[in-house]
Order: sequence, then C-alpha cells, then structure tokens
Amino acid sequence: MLIEGSRVLVTGASSGIGAALARILARRGATVGLVARREARLAEVLADCRADSPDSRMWVADLADVGLAGRVALEAWDALGHLDCLVNNAGVPMRRHTTKLDRPTLEWVMRVNFFAPAEMTMVLLPRMTARREGMIVNVSSVAGRLGNANEAAYSASKFALCGWSEAIAVDLFDTGVQIRLVNPGPIDTEIWDLPGNDDPLYSGPKISAEEMAQGIAAAMEGDTFEHYVPDMRGIVEAKTADPDPFIKGMAGMLRGR
Ligand SMILES: NC(=O)c1ccc[n+]([C@@H]2O[C@H](COP(=O)([O-])OP(=O)(O)OC[C@H]3O[C@@H](n4cnc5c(N)ncnc54)[C@H](OP(=O)(O)O)[C@@H]3O)[C@@H](O)[C@H]2O)c1
Repeated sequence: MLIEGSRVLVTGASSGIGAALARILARRGATVGLVARREARLAEVLADCRADSPDSRMWVADLADVGLAGRVALEAWDALGHLDCLVNNAGVPMRRHTTKLDRPTLEWVMRVNFFAPAEMTMVLLPRMTARREGMIVNVSSVAGRLGNANEAAYSASKFALCGWSEAIAVDLFDTGVQIRLVNPGPIDTEIWDLPGNDDPLYSGPKISAEEMAQGIAAAMEGDTFEHYVPDMRGIVEAKTADPDPFIKGMAGMLRGR
C-alpha cells in the first residue's frame, strides 16, 4: 500500500513500537488514528503526529473490553472517512510460569492480544471488502512461532494471532484486502519492565522501537505476508523442523535462572 495519503488506525500507540510507527506514518503523509489506555501519553504522540498530519485523532480505550475495541474501530473508520489499514499492535506481556497462571489472567492476555485484534478486524472487513481495498497488519511476536519459556499465556495469544493471520490471508486472497503478519524479536520498549511480570530470562541485545517500526512500514509497502524484525526466521524454521532440542534448550534456560 501507499503510505502517503493513507488513513491508518494504530493500536498501542502510546509507547514503544506503536508510538514510533504512528510518528513515522504521520511524517510520511498518512492520517493516523491512535488507540491506547494512557490518555496523556497518547496525547503527546498525537501532538507530534498532528505537526505533520493535522487530521490525526486519538481514542482512549481499554481493548481488554473486546466489544469496545470493535466500536472504536468503527468510530475511527467514520471519523477518518475510511481506513486503508488497521495495525493491531497493542499487546501485554505475561512472564509467569504455567503453574502460577490463573484463568482470569490467561483470559485477559487472550482478550488484549488476540480477541481485540480479531474483533477489530471482523467489524472492519465488510467495509474493506466492499471497497475491495484495505490492509490488516498484525503485530505478533517470535513468541507466536516459538513457545517461550515462562510465557505460556503470552505465547498462546501470539500463536493465536499468527494462526488467525495466516488463515485470514487465505480467506481474503483475491478480495483486495491484504494481511501482513509482523513478528518482532527483542525490541527495546517498556514491555520488558511492566509490573505483574517475572524478570525477563532474555538479557541479550535489542533493537530500537524506531527500527522495528520502520520494518512494519516496509511490510505495509511490500507484498509479502510474514515479516521477522530482526530476522529470526532461521530459529523458527529449525524449531519447526525438530522441536525437541528447542524444548530442551528453553527448559535449560529456565532452570538456570
Ligand atoms: N518489545 C518487544 O521485545 C516485543 C517483542 C515481540 C512482540 N512485541 C509486540 O509488540 C507490540 C508493541 O509492544 P511494545 O514492545 O511497543 O510495548 P509497549 O511499549 O508496552 O507498548 C504496548 C502498547 O499497547 C498498549 N496496550 C496495552 N494494553 C492495552 C489495552 N488493554 N488496551 C489498549 N492498549 C493497550 C499500551 O498502551 P497503554 O498502556 O497506554 O494502554 C502501549 O501503547 C505488542 O503487541 C508486543 O506484544 C514486542
């Protein structure tokens, strides 16, 4: 798709990857709609976006309320005239051992990371297919292709988003609506420090949110389905070919913490 002149709704735009992406898109001539819970942080990002793109707007919403997520998507479509692209980027971490998980936590992670993106997609699809034009970008994770140690709830939600993305890409082939799946590796954002999570097992290098967001913009402009930023596709392919060494290695990491 062409970013200049497009209308794009970005969820999770108050910090990290989503904030960086919103600023890049606005700088490149897109009108952006921003969604997140923290109003003041969202307003800061909106002010930057409006300097380049005066019609940009924001919606303060908790996407754990899946019905509200759908209503925000439709409201944004109406307010911006239409949407060329929905970027489902909002997400919560959950670094907690499986034996310490409870059902409400598991359900909350699934609502924010999977059911809200699915709902926003489902309410917009009739409008996008009627125009025979549109794009859904789902920001999943490498943890949506690899079962991460100590992150069963998070990995499950991101696997769901990967599977959903692949299947809807098939269903919508030839409709004019395109699907992009972006799987970030380790990115330097607040997600590593949020309360309610165990300390991360990973302490290696991370790329910046800006670099990651540039990767999402490139995915929007390109014509291929799945994108790894940074490129960790080889690790995923090795695990898929033979999961047992991966499981043993990950378990070793967990024991050694
Ligand atoms: N950073 C990484 O290493 C990494 C790796 C793989 C995948 N990802 C994925 O990348 C995406 C962006 O994460 P990030 O790294 O940029 O982390 P971040 O800085 O924590 O950003 C997460 C964004 O999601 C929003 N959000 C969270 N819960 C929400 C809710 N209930 N309702 C509405 N908005 C909500 C947050 O805004 P509010 O708190 O203001 O609501 C924030 O804008 C996530 O889907 C994450 O899973 C990140």
